[in-house]
Amino acid sequence: MAFSTLVLAAGAGTRMNSTKAKAVHELLGKPMVRWVIDAAKASGSDRVLTVVGHEREQVIPLVSDTTIVVQEERLGTGHAIMVARAELEHYAKKGASLVVLSADTPLIKEETIAALVETQQGTGSAVCLLTHETDDPSGYGRVVLGESGQVLYVVEESDASPAEKEVTLCNSGAYCFDLPLLLSNLEKLGNANAQGEFYLTEVFGLFVKSGESVVAYCTDASEAIGVNDRLQLAEASALMQKRINTAWMLAGVTMLDPSTVWIGPDVELENDVEILPQVILSGKTSVARGTIIGPNCRIADSAIGRDCVIEESVILESELEDQVDCGPRAYLRPGTMMKQGSKAGTHVEIKNATIGIGSKVPHLSYIGDATLGDDVNIGAGTVTCNYDGYEKHHTEIGDRAFIGSDSMLVAPVTIGADAMTGAGSTITKDLPEGALGLERAEQKIIRGWVYKRRREKEEGKNRKNEKNGR
Ligand code: UD1
Ligand code: CA
Repeated sequence: MAFSTLVLAAGAGTRMNSTKAKAVHELLGKPMVRWVIDAAKASGSDRVLTVVGHEREQVIPLVSDTTIVVQEERLGTGHAIMVARAELEHYAKKGASLVVLSADTPLIKEETIAALVETQQGTGSAVCLLTHETDDPSGYGRVVLGESGQVLYVVEESDASPAEKEVTLCNSGAYCFDLPLLLSNLEKLGNANAQGEFYLTEVFGLFVKSGESVVAYCTDASEAIGVNDRLQLAEASALMQKRINTAWMLAGVTMLDPSTVWIGPDVELENDVEILPQVILSGKTSVARGTIIGPNCRIADSAIGRDCVIEESVILESELEDQVDCGPRAYLRPGTMMKQGSKAGTHVEIKNATIGIGSKVPHLSYIGDATLGDDVNIGAGTVTCNYDGYEKHHTEIGDRAFIGSDSMLVAPVTIGADAMTGAGSTITKDLPEGALGLERAEQKIIRGWVYKRRREKEEGKNRKNEKNGR
């Protein structure tokens, strides 16, 4: 079942109203063109060619694992194939198949591509085209069938007669061609149509006229959606979200409200993970068994261990071992390592730091560029003052150290094991093991000061009233 694939990604995407090329717009964090190329590769395509054109400097870096063909002038989908002709000739030995896909049809599945190839090759047809039925066919080319249900031709909407517009069988824009037959018909394509473009879709009628067989493979409309504008982009994203969430739920992940959970294609979840509403998991993120995430969390490129509880938090490029407690409202920035049983609590920000086994940072703290040993307790409001305006400095805190609330730890500084800082202290000198670091002005006590002040204020008010004759 050998075949090559050509992905059309040169169009301007005018209807997106964007400075970005249409092909680079994302579905769950992955560019549309990537979804299509990855599906082609997964279906067993020997090689993939990508036709780029409009804003191609944005597209090329995303498709560098494919052979790139540049379409300088965009004169239609048929023209895109003509431009690739020289490259395609290399593979056009007798019986070779070419799959053609559009970068704006990102929901196509690998098994559907394989089915297109199988059907085209199995029937020895000139082409197998993908079709779908929909109540709202607007924007799609219509597939016109003959009396015995055979494909006669495809007509673009802008060229369709009222009767043809009534047809609800749509061309989904994915095909498997007999490559030599496609190439030998290319020069017959014209551009005498409403859009003045060379339509690839004209070739089906040409095949039929020359007695070649054209077959169709029908799929569900949810797989065939073409993304031409932002409404369709949102619709396609929601369909992909549903597909991914369904697979994870069937694999044993609980979701309270899957419609508000967005999981990227490279995320790995173990069973018995529980996801509450409003959660976005993206990039290379993994979550182990028994962990509860949400509500309101965003986790990107992070590894989360077993039985963690993560609530209303943002976690980026970090690692959490088992039984870590995070949030509500913690912000773990890149380079955070939370060891087993540790805690990052409410309004806590941690960056480039290791929090040792069982250590706790429960409230209102900033820990940056630091290494905490095991069983450390960080009091509320503690700040590692890691930046002197020029460079970042490191803070080291030993096992079982107890940092009093509102301690300012001016880095570079080392707090020894079992050491303690007094609440409100600004620590600028290293603390040896087991020592207390205290930096505090002596407290004064002025007895009765409040009552005296109240009396003075009261007397002042009375005098003012007398003066005003009240
Ligand atoms: C196309 C089909 C239509 C089908 C629909 C399915 C044609 C003429 N029409 O219409 O029958 O129902 O897809 O979604 O093929 N492209 C190029 N170079 C060009 C023009 C387009 O690479 O010169 C690329 C676009 O970037 C896009 C794809 O080809 O990825 C399809 O082009 P688009 O303009 O979106 O075609 P539709 O009008 O959607
Ligand atoms: Ca389209």
